[in-house]
Amino acid sequence: MKHVRKAVFPVAGLGTRFLPATKAMPKEMLPVVDKPLIQYAVEEAIEAGITELIFVTGRNKRAIEDHFDRVPELEADLEAKHKTKLLDIVRNVIPSNVNCIYTRQSNPLGLGHAVLCAEPIVGDEPFAVLLADDLIDAPVSVTRQLIETTERHNGSALAIENVARDQTGKYGIISGSLVDAATTRLDAIIEKPAPDEAPSTLAVVGRYVLEPQIFEHLRRTRVGVGGEIQLTDGIASLMAVRPVFGYQYQGIRYDCGSKTGFFHATVEFGRKYHGLRI
Ligand code: UTP
Repeated sequence: MKHVRKAVFPVAGLGTRFLPATKAMPKEMLPVVDKPLIQYAVEEAIEAGITELIFVTGRNKRAIEDHFDRVPELEADLEAKHKTKLLDIVRNVIPSNVNCIYTRQSNPLGLGHAVLCAEPIVGDEPFAVLLADDLIDAPVSVTRQLIETTERHNGSALAIENVARDQTGKYGIISGSLVDAATTRLDAIIEKPAPDEAPSTLAVVGRYVLEPQIFEHLRRTRVGVGGEIQLTDGIASLMAVRPVFGYQYQGIRYDCGSKTGFFHATVEFGRKYHGLRI
């Protein structure tokens, strides 16, 4: 398998669960303590050796482009005031060997469609997908864990975790056979099944490393659950011709697309990384 150099960040969703905060500001710019969600995801990708960051944006997402751009006047001000620590933080948001590329999804037709919008930039090589609203605190970048899975098993890899049965309707759920303690080769994947229809309680979370063949399957994918073109349905089709693996990643995930998860992440990151106490 080719080296994974590119990561796609779909950030074109409407973020309705965080209205009114997300009326004029992208959900991915919501900060957990002092860093926007999207920056945590970008840092995870860079830690995994990714050098091309591809953002699939939509309307109201200018703040993301601005965030990853240089701000000469701010840098000059911090420099003049000898605020070197802050200057470092502002300058090193993106290392110099890493490129940001932006493309638009003009209509939020679903996650599968958002990933397909990145095809002209990704081309014919494997790539990672990171959903910034799943914030994962991990000893080793989860994207790196997935890349290693694809290297071991030669196929695509999805991050999975066990969820309570009454939660299956929130996730893509897989089933398959174990190939090692943490890895399952998929034989089925279903988007948001009801608890009594779910083939297991192994849920896909927002990290993927996909082979480029996914694009031809996404092109054929019709509207699915929720009236959206689902990445899950594209993966179900890919699975028929290429192996797809679920990997039970090591780390703690916070679902920052929900208020509970976001609140939880803020408290835990505040305590763990900033010494904050309530
Ligand atoms: P979600 O369904 O969690 O995000 O999509 P959402 O639609 O923005 O949020 P709610 O449910 O209305 O609150 C998961 C990820 O996929 C992206 C979102 O930006 C988010 O990062 N996405 C979703 C797209 O880029 N395009 C889409 O058409 C749908």
